[in-house]
Amino acid sequence: MAEVKATPTIVHGAAPVEPLPITPERYLSPTYMQREADNLWPRMWLFACLERDVANVGDFSVFNLGRESIIISRTQEGNIAAFYNACQHRGAKVATEDRGCVAKFVCPYHGWSYRLDGKLVVVPDNNRFCGGVDRNERSMQQVQVDTFAGLVWICMDNNAAPLREYLGMVGDRIAPFHMENMTLVGDQTVRLDCNWKAVYDNFGELYHVEHIHPQHAMLFDCPTAQVELFENGHTGVNIIGHTVNSRLPIPEEPNFYQKVQLEKYGVDPALYNGRNLDIRLDIQKIRRQKGPELGFDYSELSDERLSDIEQYNLFPNMMITAQPESALVMRARPHPTDPNKCFWDKYTFKLVPNPEVAARAGVEFRPSNPKDLLPIPRPTHDEFEQDDVIAGRKTMDITVDQDVHLIRDIQAGMHSRGFTSQILSEEEARIQHYHDWLDYFMGERS
Ligand code: FES
Ligand SMILES: [Fe+2]
Repeated sequence: MAEVKATPTIVHGAAPVEPLPITPERYLSPTYMQREADNLWPRMWLFACLERDVANVGDFSVFNLGRESIIISRTQEGNIAAFYNACQHRGAKVATEDRGCVAKFVCPYHGWSYRLDGKLVVVPDNNRFCGGVDRNERSMQQVQVDTFAGLVWICMDNNAAPLREYLGMVGDRIAPFHMENMTLVGDQTVRLDCNWKAVYDNFGELYHVEHIHPQHAMLFDCPTAQVELFENGHTGVNIIGHTVNSRLPIPEEPNFYQKVQLEKYGVDPALYNGRNLDIRLDIQKIRRQKGPELGFDYSELSDERLSDIEQYNLFPNMMITAQPESALVMRARPHPTDPNKCFWDKYTFKLVPNPEVAARAGVEFRPSNPKDLLPIPRPTHDEFEQDDVIAGRKTMDITVDQDVHLIRDIQAGMHSRGFTSQILSEEEARIQHYHDWLDYFMGERS
């Protein structure tokens, strides 16, 4: 086995606090969970829903986070509004479905009606309220809302910095992938017996990959990955793709996954003359050359981005994996009452070939698979238990399934009297960085 080299780490934004040991308390304690509800969630920009789910007037989507619930809607004027899902009469939830399309929001309890922007319009028996109800004062309470990469984000702090400022360099990295042009092909949620941060931490390191995701050795070179630490607790990792794990013997021939990629770009693997380590550069060249005729515009992506993989953890609870023709958006959400439970949302996107790209480049449009052009209806949201994944009744793809199998045992182990704090390798620097910024935003230390 080849020597293990130090993990290259680039620090763009060190946390303004000294690192503290990461103890189980933050994963297990109801008190810590309440502090998150008070100090963390209300201050951060959070990915709330898909822009496509509020595309038309009256469309709405509900974002549930712990005990909080927020409605995102497309208003009569064509804007996106976001407001707390709490009727201003006596607090009932106004929207009880996760998504839908309505002419107005009507509270199911006493029938107060709100416009699509949350403005109160109808109070049944208004004259029985002393002086009548002030419709401005009793309209739904607004929160900040913005869009980026085809996603809708909210922030409960009306004085918070703008979204793109909060995302900083990570936003600049993600923007050229144009996720807003991608199509949703999967919408899943798994209910897990672990704290939401255990899911997030899991995507903060590649250390576990060789142990529980052996198939990755045929796809990426994780040992040479480069870690990046950003302002506001965001982190990223760049992994060399379309190659094999450099710590293992290098095969002469393309492996199964590499053959699939070569075939996709019209190269017969049986006739491929290059050596295994040439495949990555050849894929870059082929993609660059054939992109327009296949209907893909790679003009904003560097050669490395045509072969490699970038994964970002966006503080506090969102994960994005971006590739030229696909993206994975994941989110860990806290349970309303139990720090030992959470929700893990997974949205899968793919880029459908676009004939206009070929037309703009003046080449004939020749998609690699005509089936890719068939319309894709929005997938229905599928929510299930981790036991469904473990028993094989549901799958979230092989890699995520492997993580799901393991993750509740991490939470269980942290309950032991025999475990006091984590120790992190240099490859797990993203986890420490995240927790340092978490401490900072939680006000543990100024
Ligand atoms: S609580 Fe909504 S109308 Fe009374
Ligand atoms: Fe994993």
